[in-house]
Amino acid sequence: MKDNLIITIAGGGSTYTPGIISALLSNSSKFPITEIRLYDIDQKRNEDMKLIINQLLIDKDRQDMKLIVTEKPEEAFTNVDFVFSQIRVGGLAMRELDEKIPLKYDLVGQETCGLGGFAYGLRSISGILEIVGYVQQYAPNAWILNYTNPESIISEAIRRKYPDANMINVCDMTISLEETIASNFGYNRKNWIPTYYGLNHYGWYSKIYDTSLKRDVMPEIIDKLRQVNMDVAEFNEGDQYWAKTYQLMSAMVKYFPEALPNNYLEYYWFSDVMVENDDKNFTRANMVMEGREANTRKMAEQIRNGETEDILHFNFGEHGNYIVDIAVAILNDEPKRFMVITPNKGSIPNLREDAVVEVPAYIGATGVEQLALHPINDFHKGMMEAQVAAEKLLVDAFFEHSYDKALQAFTLNQTVPSARAAKQVLDDMMVANKDYWPELQ
Ligand code: NAD
Ligand code: G6P
Ligand code: MN
Repeated sequence: MKDNLIITIAGGGSTYTPGIISALLSNSSKFPITEIRLYDIDQKRNEDMKLIINQLLIDKDRQDMKLIVTEKPEEAFTNVDFVFSQIRVGGLAMRELDEKIPLKYDLVGQETCGLGGFAYGLRSISGILEIVGYVQQYAPNAWILNYTNPESIISEAIRRKYPDANMINVCDMTISLEETIASNFGYNRKNWIPTYYGLNHYGWYSKIYDTSLKRDVMPEIIDKLRQVNMDVAEFNEGDQYWAKTYQLMSAMVKYFPEALPNNYLEYYWFSDVMVENDDKNFTRANMVMEGREANTRKMAEQIRNGETEDILHFNFGEHGNYIVDIAVAILNDEPKRFMVITPNKGSIPNLREDAVVEVPAYIGATGVEQLALHPINDFHKGMMEAQVAAEKLLVDAFFEHSYDKALQAFTLNQTVPSARAAKQVLDDMMVANKDYWPELQ
């Protein structure tokens, strides 16, 4: 095993960087890094993060680590072993518009779901393709582990342009949901072997086998959820958005008790309720700007002012550990089971092969080996087929610069009831995204 790994965080200025670096430092015996590089296009954010990570290294007594902060791709990626990618093209300012423009027309305004997710997708693809291109150029053997959203759309674009890239796309939602369920109902999710299928932020558990209880606990979890609403787990403490999200899980399983849904299905099944619940002037992006982002800037400011004692405060739950566990499994060739976003290739036998799905897979040195699952029912299949087609049309629109395909994609999105509304949002989004989207004709 290589014992002098170089890792790069693409989107180094991300609010999630401290969580990933902390997880990396806690795994140093199985993942021995000697150099960390932060790559970002925004020098100010990167410099802020340099102060924070430097302080983290001091606090953990790891001043031996080389820390490089750069906006130059060649310096960032040459000879790197693993790239952790978490960019947000357009930043939270554009996320705010993704949320607020659809809400103006009484449509769901969300980061990854509905038309906000589609707008973010058209913006994000070029940023992520650029990073994959740099890695192909400067470190073709490196692994890219990606959290960048919206993940189904990103993964579809990568599948087309770089089908052989060493890239694994994952989402933390299933572990966050499992952790929340386990902490509410007295289970230990570390004992769980979950079976799950869907698209990213659009799927269902079909089974949650508990190895210590020796039974499938999903039916009893659904029963419990039908009786009581969940609270947030410790890692989401005080967060009203997540509190509401998890409460709505109960409403979903009261309607559809046969499988445990991903919380993001709220935006599709209860689009109208979600719109009613939103404040059109103060959306999730505003909360994140005032919360996680402000907190990150404050930490950097404190360090700049010479305050260093007990100033690093962040709690992202298992977000950092999840992606680092994957890196550890690859490096040590110790295959473990994770949920990944990957071309279907028959995993869901009655869904098109070229859909990008989220399913369980074993990951080791040879990459993703996904499970073969049972055929899915018509309700889930119908929803997924419509959404897959919409996502594919959107990625077509990106590569072909096609307005018509974009309008078809927006119309087919499962939160949209009318082509007129789809067109109004698309036209507003085109103006708002003129610096980011390909020119659609
Ligand atoms: P953020 O805005 O705080 O950080 C993103 C960073 O990316 C910024 O510093 C920005 O300057 C940088 N950036 C933007 N475009 C870039 C480019 N083309 N090249 C290099 N750097 C670029 O955002 P955040 O809230 O920390 O989230 C980061 C990303 O992670 C988002 O895409 C978010 O949706 C995603 N995310 C995914 C999951 C998941 O489970 N998949 C969980 C959390 C966050
Ligand atoms: C979960 C999802 C991510 C999403 C994030 C939003 O972690 O899996 O894909 O980006 O929530 O969280 P935020 O606090 O930025 O609204
Ligand atoms: Mn996610």
